[in-house]
Amino acid sequence: MPKKILIQLDCDPQPSTFDAVVAVDAGTDVLLRHGGVTVENVVSLVHGGMFTRGGADLASTAIFIGGSDVAVAEAVAARVRSTFFGPVRLGVLVDPSGANTTAAAAVVAAGRHVPLVPDAAAVCRAVVLGGTGPVGQRVARLLAGKGAHVAIASRSWERAEHVVRGIVEATGLPAARFEAIEHHGAYRAESAFARVIAAADVIVAAGAAGATLLDTAGRRAAVTARVLIDLNAVPPAGIEGLAAGDKARTDGGAVVYGAVGVGGTKMKIHRAAIGRIFTANDAFLDAEDLLAIGERLEAAG
Ligand SMILES: NC(=O)c1ccc[n+]([C@@H]2O[C@H](COP(=O)([O-])OP(=O)(O)OC[C@H]3O[C@@H](n4cnc5c(N)ncnc54)[C@H](OP(=O)(O)O)[C@@H]3O)[C@@H](O)[C@H]2O)c1
Repeated sequence: MPKKILIQLDCDPQPSTFDAVVAVDAGTDVLLRHGGVTVENVVSLVHGGMFTRGGADLASTAIFIGGSDVAVAEAVAARVRSTFFGPVRLGVLVDPSGANTTAAAAVVAAGRHVPLVPDAAAVCRAVVLGGTGPVGQRVARLLAGKGAHVAIASRSWERAEHVVRGIVEATGLPAARFEAIEHHGAYRAESAFARVIAAADVIVAAGAAGATLLDTAGRRAAVTARVLIDLNAVPPAGIEGLAAGDKARTDGGAVVYGAVGVGGTKMKIHRAAIGRIFTANDAFLDAEDLLAIGERLEAAG
């Protein structure tokens, strides 16, 4: 069995130490770390992995794509994908800024407490605060992909609407499954935000570190919410009253999670995904695939 080689392609000048440590913990034997990766310079790095091992041994070389600029990393990922041909391809995991694994973990956590797939009786109603960021966009996309109705909240209605259009174009999901909402942090009764909060089953705060997006008044108004998830680990909390370490803590009528409480599931998904790209050289793991991995891990207990 050849050694498992992971080619870490990071769009930041210095490749992420976090991603490197997870790669090693997930069973990588040899890690080749590259920083400053761009659409222009990535092809030769990929060719080096494609043309060295043949047949079944090819699956022992895989690629991780990361970096803090998610748009740049996604362009690099598209370039990597188009570099492969026929059976000459490598397993790929795309997780810039941890956005895909974090969003998948949040949706797995929500699904523990609320049916996300609609049935004859009800459609899950979700609100994603800070829904224009890399993590929030993916949470919204994954929830809607399960069949939920998703309100994407932003300080700018235009930005939220732009994100809705982008997700609909990229995924083909029905536009009716989304709603763009303007919200500035402080809860105001008789606003569009108040309407979606009052009907929400699931609320996920994916705002920037240290930004409070649901205050105490907003929480009181969330009378139907069964699960609240705050992905911000930097004080003050994204959802007032939640702590980073909350993990399925019952709080009133809801179950609540903080960033650290979701982090364990995120790490499990990340490690399992590394394992997967070393077993299937045609695997190209994006947010939806990572959610599927998370759901399988959840079902297996
Ligand atoms: N638990 C984990 O393992 C993990 C991993 C990755 C990320 N995270 C956390 O997940 C959260 C989302 O990450 P991200 O990278 O998607 O975040 P981000 O891009 O920094 O911010 C998300 C959105 O927050 C809004 N925002 C920015 N500054 C704000 C401010 N001062 N006040 C109110 N809203 C503000 C922006 O939306 P608008 O401008 O449209 O309002 C922005 O699009 C962060 O808190 C991050 O630390 C956790």
